[in-house]
This record gives sequence, C-alpha cells and structure tokens, in this order.
Amino acid sequence: MTDRVPSPDFTYAGGTLCAEALPLSGIAAEVGTPFYCYSLAGLARNYRALEAALAGLPATICYALKANSNQAVIAAFAGLGAGADVVSGGELRRALAAGVPAGRIVFSGVGKTQEEIALALRSGIHQLNAESEAELDLISAVAAGAGVTARVSLRINPDVDARTHDKISTGRKQDKFGIAIDRTLPAYARAAELPNLAPSGLAMHIGSQLLSLAPYRAAFGRLAEQVRALRAAGHDVISLDLGGGVGITYRDEAPPGFEDYAAVVRETVGGLGCDLMFEPGRSMVGNAGVLVARVLYLKDGGLRPVAVVDAAMNDLARPAMYGAYHAIVPVTQPQNSPDCVETDVVGPICESGDTFAVARSLPPLAPGDLVAFGSAGAYGSVMSSAYNSRPPAPEVLVSGERFAVVRARQTVDDLIRQEAVPDWLEPPEGA
Ligand code: LLP
Repeated sequence: MTDRVPSPDFTYAGGTLCAEALPLSGIAAEVGTPFYCYSLAGLARNYRALEAALAGLPATICYALKANSNQAVIAAFAGLGAGADVVSGGELRRALAAGVPAGRIVFSGVGKTQEEIALALRSGIHQLNAESEAELDLISAVAAGAGVTARVSLRINPDVDARTHDKISTGRKQDKFGIAIDRTLPAYARAAELPNLAPSGLAMHIGSQLLSLAPYRAAFGRLAEQVRALRAAGHDVISLDLGGGVGITYRDEAPPGFEDYAAVVRETVGGLGCDLMFEPGRSMVGNAGVLVARVLYLKDGGLRPVAVVDAAMNDLARPAMYGAYHAIVPVTQPQNSPDCVETDVVGPICESGDTFAVARSLPPLAPGDLVAFGSAGAYGSVMSSAYNSRPPAPEVLVSGERFAVVRARQTVDDLIRQEAVPDWLEPPEGA
C-alpha cells in the first residue's frame, strides 16, 4: 500500500500535490527545499472542530505552543479565540508577541526557573500549573516579592498509562511529571496556606498521540475523585486543566474524534461545575503541515534502492527519535501508475538514524523529484536543530492561493555569527 497525506488540505490537483490551492512545486521553486508548509484552513478546521465538540462546556482552549510555535501559527489560533499553553519563558514571550491575551495563557512545565515565574507574574498570565510542592514555595516567594497573588493549579500525576510511545507518556507514576496523586490533598493545603498563592484547581496531562479514550476516562475519573476529596476538606476547586493529547493519523491510525473525547469529558468531570481548560497541540497542527524535500540521489543500497533527500533528522527528528512513521508521497503524481518499489528514504546526515523510511512502497523516484512528508505540522520544525551545520528549514503558511514565508531560511553565516573564538586561542599556523 502506498502512502497518502492524511489531510484534506494537501491533495492532488492536475497531478501535482497542492497546499490548499497552491502547487507545492511552485512554492519549492521560490523558497527552495527543504521547507515546512502549513495550511491555514487546516489549522482553523482543527480548532473549530474541537471548539464545536466542547460547545456548552465552560471550556477554554489553550493551544500548546510546543507543537508548533511559529508566530504566524500562534497568531492564527489567537485570531480564532485560542489561549496558549506554554512551557518556558521563551514560549510565553512568543505567545504574547503573537497577540495571545495574557489572561488566556497557562504556564505548565516541570522545571520553571525563578526568572520564568517572575516573567509569568509580571505578564499577568491566567495561571501557573505547579508540578511540585517545592515549586509552590518558589511561586509563593516570587509572588510575594512582586506584591501579587499567583493563581496556581496543581498538576497531578494520576498514574494512568496513556498507552502511547514510552517517551511521550507522561502520566504514569514513574514519569517525572506532576505531583503524585496521593499527595494531592497535602499539596493543595500547602498552596492554600502559602502567602500570595491562590490555588484554583487541578491540572493533568497523561501523554501525547493517544489513540484510545480509555486512559482519559480513567485519568479524568481520578481527577474528579480528587476534586470531591478537596472540596470535602473545605477547599475551593474552580478549574480543571485536562491537558492535550488526542492523537492524529500518520498512517492508518484511527484516533478518537473530538466529539467522543468531549463525551468522556462531560461524563467524568462535566458535572463538577469547574471551568475547563484544554491544551491540545498535535491535533491542532499535525495534519495541517507537510515537510517538502527534494531527492538528491538514488542509489542501489545493499538491500534495495535508497533515495537520499535534502531534508534530514535535523529538520524532522521524529523518525530518528521515536521511530515515528510519516507518510511520504511524490509531489508530482507519476503518470501511467508505475509499479511501486520498496525504497529506503534517508537524509544526508552522517548517522544511520537519519532514516525516514525503510522499505517504503513508493513510485520510482528520480533525482530532482520533490517529496512531501505528511503530518509534519506538529513537533516538526520546533524540534529541528542545526546538526551537521544544516540551517533549520524555512516555514511557509498557505491560505487559498496565497502563501507567505513565515520563517526565513537561516544561513550558515547566521550560525557562525552566534559563536566566537576566544582571543587567547592560538591562531592556526600560517594564519
Ligand atoms: N500539555 C502539556 C503539559 C504537554 O506536556 C503536552 C505535550 C501538551 C499539552 C500537548 O500535547 P498534544 O496535544 O500535542 O499531544 N515531541 C513529541 C511529543 C511530545 C509531547 C509532550 N507534551 C512527538 O513528536 O511526538
């Protein structure tokens, strides 16, 4: 079976793969390869679908910037009414710069620094999700120093297995995240006693790329039990942050629909009278983006043909990091439906891990052909690096027949400029 891009925003027209109404080959001719390409219609469709599913609930959608923090992407979601979930001072500044109102920003993360907490309080964000009792102490101290009251939620680790990739599972007892569920009551009591803290509720996030709702049902159920216990002990609990995590299709997965997800939310925590926050990342951007690359060489490998493309693991790290599958399709549809060939698709980086696909069934490729990697809108560009001194790829946003470069291609000069040779280093001989 050959791949297809699992997205209605990237379809063939006239034999060429288009982003909305624009042929990717035309963008490649102007921008060069590799490049990321996002569809504005795709972003909007995803956001509106979740919003519609949550209709009637007191819900705020805080887009998780970590999935894709390009200013244009954040601004697009902000324009649709989204808030932001940030996990660093850098992401907080990006959210503010893109126009997300501070009052719709939540700050999650297991290791916030004093400076980041101070920035969050200065900016007047909605709330901090604290992940330890020690962090509560620090937030209290920083808030007292600034003369403000910090609204905090306690991120609880519900000890539920999200049944996703081990490296992106975050809600099991052994995972580094959150406050152990059996510490909820003492931690909440501490937050209530500490000066300049206003505990408002609980938060959780059990993992990413969830393909089943059962872990959510279990985790939300545990959260609801904690809310009842806290209230019974006399605490106010007015909000719940339910994290992100609904999966997307990379190949043939059938992730839960937003409607079914929302039904689980209603069933488990809907009756508690809490304001609800959601932090989706992948399901908002993943299938609204592709990575476009050009085939450099085709060679006979030891086992099968190998297509060497000009994108690499520095551009899209997920296959190397998680063994992740991304669909690969030719941008120009081959004529006369030739037989597919099992092909390895690799990048130019000097390690074997820089392999996008092994024995992938693909139409015969030739040097110069463009290929698109599907489902690359989330955790693609944000995880890119300059490994092998390959400047990160540019990003393009398409809307209908328009496109804009929303992140320029960096140059090697940009990379070199950030470095310095100390004047006490011996100059090379003959220099
Ligand atoms: N909220 C918190 C606190 C999170 O840690 C995450 C993701 C999200 C929300 C968003 O989850 P989503 O809706 O995107 O599943 N780099 C990995 C994914 C790491 C996700 C970490 N946390 C990958 O490429 O698969």
